[in-house]
Amino acid sequence: MIKRLNHVAIVVPDLAAASLTYRDTLGAEVSKAQALVEHGVTVVFVDLPNTRIELLEPLGNDSPVSNFLQRNMNGGIHHICIEVDDIIAAKNDLLAKGARVLGDGEPKAGAHGNPVLFLHPKDFHGCLIELEQV
Ligand code: CO
Repeated sequence: MIKRLNHVAIVVPDLAAASLTYRDTLGAEVSKAQALVEHGVTVVFVDLPNTRIELLEPLGNDSPVSNFLQRNMNGGIHHICIEVDDIIAAKNDLLAKGARVLGDGEPKAGAHGNPVLFLHPKDFHGCLIELEQV
C-alpha cells in the first residue's frame, strides 16, 4: 500500500535558525519560509536528492504543533509522510485492519495541495504517519 517517503517533518522553535543550520552546516538546499495559515504552521522545505525535510514552526495561537513544542522544547521529529496511490482505498484498508485515522477521517489538502490523512501514532509504534495521495 505505502510507497515513497515524501517527507520527514521536524518541528522547531526557531525556523530561521533551523534554516541556517540545514543550509550552512549541512549544505542543503532550503526554500524560503512559507506561512500556511490554514495549517497553523510556517514551513521551510529542505530538498534532498531522494526526499524532503519540512521544518515547521507554529503559526498563530492554536497551531497543531504548539503542544508538541511545549513537550519538546528544542524541537524534534513530528511525523513522517508516505505516499499512497489512492488515499480513500488506503483509509478503508487501514480502518478494516483496526488502525485509527485522526480527526474526522476525511482527507484534507496538505502542504502540497494533495489530499492527506494522519494515522494514530499509538497504532504505529509511536510514529505519527501522514499519508499523502500523489
Ligand atoms: Co507533513
